[in-house]
Amino acid sequence: MFISFEGPEGCGKSTHTKLLKEYLESRGKKVVLTFEPGGTKLGEELRKMLLHARNKIDRITELAMFAADRAEHVSKVIIPALEHGQWVICDRYVDSTLAYQIAGRGLPEDMVRYMNMVSCHGVLPDLTFLLDILPTLGLERAGKIKKADRFEKEKTTFHNRVRQRYLEIAKNEPKRIRVIDTGKNTVKQVQAIIQKIIQRHI
Ligand code: TYD
Repeated sequence: MFISFEGPEGCGKSTHTKLLKEYLESRGKKVVLTFEPGGTKLGEELRKMLLHARNKIDRITELAMFAADRAEHVSKVIIPALEHGQWVICDRYVDSTLAYQIAGRGLPEDMVRYMNMVSCHGVLPDLTFLLDILPTLGLERAGKIKKADRFEKEKTTFHNRVRQRYLEIAKNEPKRIRVIDTGKNTVKQVQAIIQKIIQRHI
């Protein structure tokens, strides 16, 4: 199974991806936990530039960099793992590009969808958890853990647009995408919801 985790800044993806991996392993599954951008050697370099470049990056260049990161990641990490019968948990995937590059950066939808289609080698998640949180709360949480990157430094309006877009995507694909409120629920509650959904697939 291929599971992706999505959501605005500070929504708790890294906590819940790790907890889900532990849970699946306790049930005897082989699990690959990976992430975008940065899940490959080349991706590590792209991630550094995408998150910490000092100069402004043109938004089409940025889209192409996320696409390059993904094409490399899907072909070298995700496809081989799935072919070996492993479960793949990916922290951010195609929906991040739809939310951040269309709603955040204002790029045309058809352009971003086309780039997504090309870069993902036709591999889409079976299940996606959208961890939803109010951007102000998420950014506050993220700010306590580390220094802000290029995206976290964007205005609240940018993050609100990203969140709204995520919710729209989820509304259009209710079978694939499960929305869980990580602002109101505790880590334990959120993980319990995730595990309950996953149990149906084990
Ligand atoms: P992430 O690794 O979740 O950052 P952190 O570890 O700080 O939580 O994601 C890095 C940033 O990249 C995040 O702000 C969202 C952005 N992003 C896009 O804009 N488009 C994309 O396609 C992806 C995968 C990420």
